[in-house]
Amino acid sequence: RKDYVVLGIESSCDETSAAVVKGGRELLSNIISTQIELHKKFGGVVPEVASRKHVELINVVIQEALDKAGVTLNDVDIIGATYGPGLVGALLVGLSTAKALSFAAKKKFVGVNHIEGHICANFLAHKELEPPFVCLVVSGGHTNIVYIEDYGKFEIMGRTRDDAAGEAYDKIARALGLGYPGGPVIDKLALQGNKDAVNFPRINLDKSLDFSFSGLKTSVLNYINKLNMVGTKIIVEDVAAAFQEAVVDVLVDKTINAAILKKSKIIGIAGGVASNSRLREKFMEKAKIHDIQIFFPPPILCTDNAAMIASAAYYEYVNGRESDMSLNANPSLRL
Ligand code: KG4
Ligand code: ZN
Repeated sequence: RKDYVVLGIESSCDETSAAVVKGGRELLSNIISTQIELHKKFGGVVPEVASRKHVELINVVIQEALDKAGVTLNDVDIIGATYGPGLVGALLVGLSTAKALSFAAKKKFVGVNHIEGHICANFLAHKELEPPFVCLVVSGGHTNIVYIEDYGKFEIMGRTRDDAAGEAYDKIARALGLGYPGGPVIDKLALQGNKDAVNFPRINLDKSLDFSFSGLKTSVLNYINKLNMVGTKIIVEDVAAAFQEAVVDVLVDKTINAAILKKSKIIGIAGGVASNSRLREKFMEKAKIHDIQIFFPPPILCTDNAAMIASAAYYEYVNGRESDMSLNANPSLRL
């Protein structure tokens, strides 16, 4: 494998990010400009507002990533950008910029699947990690159990049939008046709560490795409404802890089952929800019983960033895949 220098670009949701990665694993820079503050007052990401902000920031962020890495565009071999899944207007900003840059500067161009990017965050964080392994991708938009047979070779073993895990966190946080994004706040409050205060349902869908979080969400919302109706004070910390425990139980159990099914002794965790402290703790506990090794990236590589996109672009390219200028954004792209 060659030490190609990759410029990664990510703009699928509310983070404008550019990064420089060498040889797929060596992080030279990772600039992330988050729009969270901008969207907070709306209680979630407003697509048109996100697109406009990406346009404003994308060139600045790219220049900063190159400067921080101590390289110029001349030193870059490959430009990789997310082309889906995500918000179409947001995706188009990063993708069009990447295409224009690679065309003008005569660089190789690789369109990257955002979910593959999340998985590759583990390659940046753990130099010793090699496929095959099972990976749980949990974010605001996705909940997938993926078998990584080899670099760039994936099998989806399970996916959510309704809400993504992060989406459930965000919706419950909103109902509790905790603001956006909900995951980090619930994570923190749950530390002070009693996880056994309420027994919310664990939706297991029989033996399937698919997930469903809408039933749990409804159950928590009904609980909140009922207490409000009779005028009983809601102990937010307890609801947070009990809700979180129900989510984490299902995520951990199914992922471990998937690893057992594949006879894999390695599990990777990726995506925004992978920074959840209870999820990490429970994975470590349960994995020990089955002699499974758990890998997760540091929080900054869990949420959306361009370094993971650069790493994915590298592995796509060394596996013979390259994109051309006709590549369009695909908001519902699958792995
Ligand atoms: O990967 P990401 O930045 O964006 C998507 O691709 O969706 O993930 C964002 C999601 C949000 O739903 C956020 O609430 C959740 O990740 N999240 C967390 C935590 N930090 C972020 N959920 C639970 N615990 C956390 N500590
Ligand atoms: Zn993401």
